[in-house]
Amino acid sequence: MDPLKHQKTEVDDLFHESRRFEPSEIFKSHANYKDIKIYQDANHDRLKFWEDCARRLEWFVPWTKTLQWDRPFAQWFVGGRINASYNCLDRHIKANMGNKVAFYWEGENGDTQILTYQDVYEQVNKMASVIKGLGIKKGDRVAIYLPMIPEAVVAMLACSRIGAAHTVIFGGFSADALRDRINDAQAKLLITADGGYRRGNIVPLKTIADAAVEQTPSIKDVIVVQRTKQEVPIKSGRDHWWHDLAKTAKTYCEPEPMESEDLLFILYTSGTTGKPKGIVHTTGGYLTGVTATTYSVFDLKPNDIFWCTADVGWVTGHSYVVYGPMANGATQVIYEGAPDFPERNRFWKIIEKYKVSILYTAPTAIRAFMKWGEEYPKGCDLSSLRLLGSVGEPINPEAWMWYYEYIGQKRCPIVDTWWQTETGCIMITSLPGMTTMKPGSATKPLPGIDAEILNEEGEVIKEGGGFLSITSPWPSMLRGIWGDPERYKQTYWSKWQGKNYFAGDGTKRDKDGYFWFLGRVDDIMLVAGHNISTAEVESALIDHPMVAESAVVGVTDDIKGQAIVAFVILKEKNKSSKEAEEILKEHVALKIGSLAKPKQIIFTADVPKTRSGKIMRRLLRDIAEGRALGDITTLADPAVTAALKQKYDEV
Ligand code: WT7
Repeated sequence: MDPLKHQKTEVDDLFHESRRFEPSEIFKSHANYKDIKIYQDANHDRLKFWEDCARRLEWFVPWTKTLQWDRPFAQWFVGGRINASYNCLDRHIKANMGNKVAFYWEGENGDTQILTYQDVYEQVNKMASVIKGLGIKKGDRVAIYLPMIPEAVVAMLACSRIGAAHTVIFGGFSADALRDRINDAQAKLLITADGGYRRGNIVPLKTIADAAVEQTPSIKDVIVVQRTKQEVPIKSGRDHWWHDLAKTAKTYCEPEPMESEDLLFILYTSGTTGKPKGIVHTTGGYLTGVTATTYSVFDLKPNDIFWCTADVGWVTGHSYVVYGPMANGATQVIYEGAPDFPERNRFWKIIEKYKVSILYTAPTAIRAFMKWGEEYPKGCDLSSLRLLGSVGEPINPEAWMWYYEYIGQKRCPIVDTWWQTETGCIMITSLPGMTTMKPGSATKPLPGIDAEILNEEGEVIKEGGGFLSITSPWPSMLRGIWGDPERYKQTYWSKWQGKNYFAGDGTKRDKDGYFWFLGRVDDIMLVAGHNISTAEVESALIDHPMVAESAVVGVTDDIKGQAIVAFVILKEKNKSSKEAEEILKEHVALKIGSLAKPKQIIFTADVPKTRSGKIMRRLLRDIAEGRALGDITTLADPAVTAALKQKYDEV
């Protein structure tokens, strides 16, 4: 996509200028931030703004230098010592908040648990003692592969308590994907479960983990949480049931006073090559960013019931289930399963039951709810809601309006939050008590964030389309790619000769300075809000013995935002068939996880390439979306495209 050539669309005409929404007077008058001065002050002295945010946390030792910027490597709050688990737990208990509910947990099968801050504190201390006892030390990596159960949060905080870095792998990933991430991180310990529930079925996490761990020599121990109670193989000496270990675990484990710049976690995200990138986040800056934005963007109050529907396997779960809300002492809901199980009103039932006041979910979910119809939310009492959030991809104005009308009942402001695994915290969105909303726009950079739209040359575009760039360092920015500083420089800092951060998003800015996100400009697809690279799916396909070559594109999809279409060239002795298509789809699910399964596979004799041999994905997208073909002047052999289009039209 070329954002510089962005044409005005119908949607722009419809919503861009005319549609504006203001927060209600009631919301405004109670909001945590209501004065425009916050932007002006932050603009005037950005470092002071972030220092004030950092002071919302408890530091064992104060920092001596706020920012050390050796472009593109930042260090924040240098010299300070802090512990994330301490800030999420001990601090609240010392403030007599031990009895406050931390989590209302709801299993998909109807199981429930209520955990206070004291309960979470006890569990975290036990798990921290146990993993320390297994020989895990500060700086070691621990892999976590769990369903959405309280133990997932406990495991993360247990790691940060002793200074071990967690790397959480989403429970939908396959054994191969799990293995590769464990090996890249060289994790010593894996924390998993027997299984988890998804749409009434059991996801056999332990069996998948066993297959992975066969090829991960760094893993010495596996802790298994019992969730589903089905039988699973236990390898003696290596595997340990969590409930057995917990029985004799020490009930207190000293929190490690971490340097601000010590590693907090690694989280893998797709890159433009087949190899996922281990995004590195450190302690003080990350915690500052997520704590401040949870308070400001979600307007969090002590009595709120906050529900972020993201899995802890994604950055949204790290920042807005674990660290941000817990550092703020929030009461939250966690739900284990699918939104349509047992019925399509599950989310609304949960909101009614727990009186959720802030809901943070993804456009792909909203579009599914829209399709199912408003009778589901209408049948439940949603009057507890006061604020809505959206994350993961651009929210189309239609979905925004539906969310506003049927979920927020025209009463709740919507924060459309733009950020990335790499940015750690929300970067571009409204402050809900003071920003005029425009449906489909993430609005403006938050106080303390410098963002601009740049053209190829790196010149600022005040109005119009270009590439989003963050132009000053921010506390929760990634510190690098695990084990690969060159790739870090190459991916994020090479576009404008090391000067500015390249986010990979095409964006335009309107005359009011509002940001409108147009989608990725690189080869990363956003499928149901999940980041998947074309190269990753291509290499999964090529891995199959039938396949000679493949080219993968993301095409527009009503529900998922984008869906994966794969063009596949088979080796000569193989014939294309419906069966072959199914085999290859399953193979991708096996290599990566079913989230990466192509929606459609098109067998072809060739794919269009430039004269230098680069696959022309833009043309493939045009074909797959049934559009007239775009510019083919750089194409090596135009006949390939014509043949392919004909083939596709036949399919
Ligand atoms: C990419 C980052 C941020 C947590 C979830 C995804 C897209 C995310 C928005 C939004 C438009 C958005 C961008 C970004 N994105 N939120 N509100 N509006 N686009 O994290 O997997 O690292 O993906 O998601 O393209 O670069 P991620």
